[in-house]
Amino acid sequence: ALLDTTPGPLQGRRILITAGPTREPVDPVRYLGNRSSGRMGFAVAAAARDAGARVTLVHGPCELAVPPGVQAHAVETAAEMHAAVLEALEGTEVFIATAAVADYRPATPAAQKLKKTREDLTLELERTPDILADVARRVDGLAARPLLVGFAAETGNLREYARDKLVAKGLDLVAANRVDGGRGFGHGDNSLLCLWPDGERELPRQPKDRLARELITLIAERLQTHPA
Ligand code: CTP
Ligand code: CA
Repeated sequence: ALLDTTPGPLQGRRILITAGPTREPVDPVRYLGNRSSGRMGFAVAAAARDAGARVTLVHGPCELAVPPGVQAHAVETAAEMHAAVLEALEGTEVFIATAAVADYRPATPAAQKLKKTREDLTLELERTPDILADVARRVDGLAARPLLVGFAAETGNLREYARDKLVAKGLDLVAANRVDGGRGFGHGDNSLLCLWPDGERELPRQPKDRLARELITLIAERLQTHPA
C-alpha cells in the first residue's frame, strides 16, 4: 500500500494523554480501583496519531494494546501517573486528561497483607493529587501554554457540572459524558458534550474510535484560536 503523506490537522504537534483507571494499594495484594477500561483514552491517542501528532500516553492498568507509533508509559497509582505526566510535560502542546484517576487513596497502605481478624474494618483515605489541575497551575502564564482538555464523567446536570470544571481547573475544553444508565465506562458507544469558554458542541452517540476522531477534529479547531 502507498503511504498517505497528506499532513493531518495535528501534524507534528506534541500531545500528552492520560488514560485508564488508577489503582491505589490497600495492602500488598489489594487495591481501590474503578471501572474505567481506558478505551476512550486509547482511542483518542490513536486518533491523535492518525492526525499526525507525536503522542505520549500515560496510562493506568488497561487490557488494551498500545496503538502503534504511540509512546506509552504504564503506571499504577495516581501518584505515579502524576510523576509520569510532569516528566513528559515539557514541550507538550495539547494535554488531554481522559484518565479516571482515583480521587482518594488509603492514607497508610499496610506493608503486610491484612488478615481478617476483625469483624469490621475502616480504611482511612486521603486525597490524591489532581493531575489536570496541577498541570493547569504549572503552565499558567507560560509563553507556550498547552491547550488543556479535561474529561468529566457525570450523572445529573451534565452541562452545569462540566462548565464548573472548565472554570475551576482553568481548562480550554471539557468533554463531558454521562455515566448513568449503563453508558460510559466499559461500553463501546458514547456521546460527548464538549464545552469551551465561549461555545459548545455535542458529539453524538457513536463508537468510541469515531467519537475520538471527532474530538480530535474539534481539538485541532480549538488549537487554531489558541494563543502561542
Ligand atoms: N483528573 C486528574 N487527576 C485527578 C482527578 C481528575 O487529572 N486526581 C482529571 C480527569 O482525568 C478529568 C478531569 O480531571 O480530565 C475531571 O475528572 P472528574 O473525576 O470528572 O472530576 P474531579 O475534578 O475529580 O471531581 P469529581 O470526581 O468530584 O466530580
Ligand atoms: Ca474524580
